[in-house]
Amino acid sequence: MYDIVVIGSGPAGYVAAIKSAQMGFKTACVERDQTLGGTCLNVGCIPSKALLHATELLYHVQKEGNILGITAPTSPHLTPLMEQKGKIVQKLTGGIAYLFKKNKVEHIRGTAAIKSGGSLEVDGKVLEAKYIIIATGSEAIPLPFLPFDEKVVLSSTGALALKDVPKKMIVVGGGVIGLELGSVYRRLGAEVEVVEFMDRITPEFDLDLSMGFQKILEKQGITFNLNTKVVAGKKTESGITLEVEGGKTFSGDVCLVSIGRRPYAKGFDVELTPKGFIKIDQNFRTSLPNIFAIGDVAGPPMLAHKGSEEGVALIEYLSGKSSHVDYIAIPNVIYTYPEIASVGFTEKELIEKGTPYKVTNFPFIGNSRYQTNSGDDPCFVKILSHKETRHLLGAHILAPNASELIIQPTTAIAQKLTLDDLKAICFPHPTLSEALHEVYLDKFLHY
Ligand code: NAI
Repeated sequence: MYDIVVIGSGPAGYVAAIKSAQMGFKTACVERDQTLGGTCLNVGCIPSKALLHATELLYHVQKEGNILGITAPTSPHLTPLMEQKGKIVQKLTGGIAYLFKKNKVEHIRGTAAIKSGGSLEVDGKVLEAKYIIIATGSEAIPLPFLPFDEKVVLSSTGALALKDVPKKMIVVGGGVIGLELGSVYRRLGAEVEVVEFMDRITPEFDLDLSMGFQKILEKQGITFNLNTKVVAGKKTESGITLEVEGGKTFSGDVCLVSIGRRPYAKGFDVELTPKGFIKIDQNFRTSLPNIFAIGDVAGPPMLAHKGSEEGVALIEYLSGKSSHVDYIAIPNVIYTYPEIASVGFTEKELIEKGTPYKVTNFPFIGNSRYQTNSGDDPCFVKILSHKETRHLLGAHILAPNASELIIQPTTAIAQKLTLDDLKAICFPHPTLSEALHEVYLDKFLHY
């Protein structure tokens, strides 16, 4: 009999399992895949960041090489990049196996199901547990008329494992995955055309950020078709042809379908929400009292770090401690060049809530480190603060290293700091982070 069985070993599941064992619970984690780590480590965040890092090097050499006297390869090969990506994935998934062993989490290989009444089975074998945590994640949504074959019609999984750089990639969906992987192949020389059915890209980010971001990606050679809905598609001898509303067609050798992910909630006899997520209460409890759900399967945002936070909070709750996740202070990042990163509220959300707010912007072109790094894109930071109390309410950054910069405003929002608290902090010079100091000071240094 286990105290806790976690189903799924992604960032929500493995963190919950390790924390559970560390808190003294007899713990097992059921994972059907050969390696631990779930989508994030095997076919998501980690391999995509490895390819983004490698191709960003290429991008900089292509852009600045002639000034700095460094020569870029004219037709880069995918093989070494994919091999390096594979090594990183192997190292990190192996790291989870090591942590399981070290913390005495038992890894049970198989597919778990929860039958009516809440009994847990792994490949038909009953497993006794006091508490069960479902952390099964999510899967890519296909276009209804075009199933993934991972050769021509790609989800992120297929796009992370191409053998050759395609001549032309059509990206359906201008969200996180489409723009990250679209950037990878654009930098490698592919023609990349994005088809997005909304009137803007990255709809969950602040509008100014999305618009600035699109302009920079266009300068890098990615083309965008907004307000464009794909209605049909067929594979051809040379690749794929997609038809959009109005009859126009788009052809390429491959298409990446990145129109969102859906919760993976199959096989569990618990109540679901209308959108297919597992229904949970404020303590992550499902419709069955000893069964809990965390991570992508339990609701948006579908972010690895949100799942991990939920894993820790749930184990603390099951240990009798009080714990909560501050969902307003969860940063969201797109790891392109430049990156975009956001935390807190967007301007649209504050208008909807009726909160009085003030906007302050600062362009990175006025930041000395951005200049030393040859930055020449119209990057900026935008913050939203409460008009009366001066609390920081939101931060939206379009800049290189935005993923690292965002943690400072994230801390400020989590700790409920005001602009007066923040402007009193000393920032190192010269750093990109000084752009944040500028907005906290309300541009005092430059205006
Ligand atoms: P997404 O939700 O970020 O973007 C999907 C885009 O597709 C939206 O702009 C939407 O308007 C558009 N779209 C939907 N249906 C369409 C259609 N039929 N035709 C044209 N456009 C259509 O979804 P994405 O990029 O697939 O990512 C899935 C999830 O994975 C996200 O929730 C994201 O948070 C997570 N993720 C996070 C990463 C990160 O934190 N850097 C990296 C990769 C994924």
